[in-house]
Amino acid sequence: MAKRVALAYSGGLDTSVAVRWMIEEWGVEVVCVLVDVGQDADSSESFDDIRARALAAGALDCVIVDARREMAEEFCAHAIYANARYEGKYPLVSALSRPVIVRHLVDQARKFEAQAVAHGCTGKGNDQVRFEVGTHALAPDLEVLAPARNWGMSRADSVDYAEKWDITIRASKEKIYSIDENLWGRAIECGAMEDPWAAPPDEPYTLTRITNEERVELVLNFKAGLPVAIDNEAMSLDELIATLNHRAGATGFGRLDMVENRRVGIKSREVYECPAALAIIAAHADLEDLVLERDVHHEKARLETRWAELIYDGMWFSPLKEALDAFMIDTQRFVTGDVRLSFEAPGLMRITGRRSPHALYDYGLATYDAHDTFQHADSEGFVKIYGLGVKTWAARQGAKNATPRSS
Ligand code: ARG
Repeated sequence: MAKRVALAYSGGLDTSVAVRWMIEEWGVEVVCVLVDVGQDADSSESFDDIRARALAAGALDCVIVDARREMAEEFCAHAIYANARYEGKYPLVSALSRPVIVRHLVDQARKFEAQAVAHGCTGKGNDQVRFEVGTHALAPDLEVLAPARNWGMSRADSVDYAEKWDITIRASKEKIYSIDENLWGRAIECGAMEDPWAAPPDEPYTLTRITNEERVELVLNFKAGLPVAIDNEAMSLDELIATLNHRAGATGFGRLDMVENRRVGIKSREVYECPAALAIIAAHADLEDLVLERDVHHEKARLETRWAELIYDGMWFSPLKEALDAFMIDTQRFVTGDVRLSFEAPGLMRITGRRSPHALYDYGLATYDAHDTFQHADSEGFVKIYGLGVKTWAARQGAKNATPRSS
């Protein structure tokens, strides 16, 4: 059994209780690792408060790592290249942050000479998979401990446990939402939403409360597959994401309400708010429509589905993910240009224009006016040969398909 454990610490009820519980039950030393992936945006509690709580719970130390830029420039960036939306909808908010956290958790485990890492996930979710598979990929020798998976405490029991050990927690026994947030958005679970028919209450939303009823129009400027500026004002990717979360979110854009298939075989009702992620992916995909050659474009769409599944399933650090990334990155060379987004009504965004120096759109070919450059006569032979197989087949069938149903 490990003597020292590095715990992925959030400051919430479960991970705070986990500190004391592991000390009491397993006799280990606990180092807390709090990775800032952008979850502080709306929090009313400072990282210093959270650190103090970890120490009060008995932690040897609590290290705070600022990984916001890394989250944006590596993890969100690859998700943008891949237009990543699990099951065609969910932009992988939580799934993207776990490998960042794992990387720092392993790094701190090494620095503190720990023999194990730990997380606060239960046995029913995807996050345990992401933590554990990720750790095995980066540090096969480290043990992974999951106290909350086995301790058998209800939420109320955990609150009592925290009280007994003088760990001050803001959560009450009644607090019902489970919220995970980072730069890429917020995932909201539990409460009334466990009934997939129940409309989500307004209360847990923060990024998408409507504070601007005016129409908002903005241009996203892309370079080699990534947004680099808004209305030509250059900013780093983490800043750009934060700015868009604010500007698009204020119009009410960015909510998702869906039933999704977890890796562990459970269907769950999930509510997300991720204005920047959805706006950036929509704009990026639109720009690709303009610049990617047809076969590359169609093949990329197939691989995007696989990419999103892999990340959802905790395979960020895996050979297939690396190979798919090589493909994605190769396709991004020409994804440079501008996309105009119009937030027209609460919750509604429309793309109203796109342009690129690498556009494959050719006015002379596409126009319907008489002076186009397209060789109409060439189509005659092309269409005949293209349809030859079907024509031959049809001749063997007789006139069977030519009789209208109604007669
Ligand atoms: N269902 C989403 C996912 O698996 C969100 C998970 C949110 N995590 C949480 N601990 N509340 O990525």
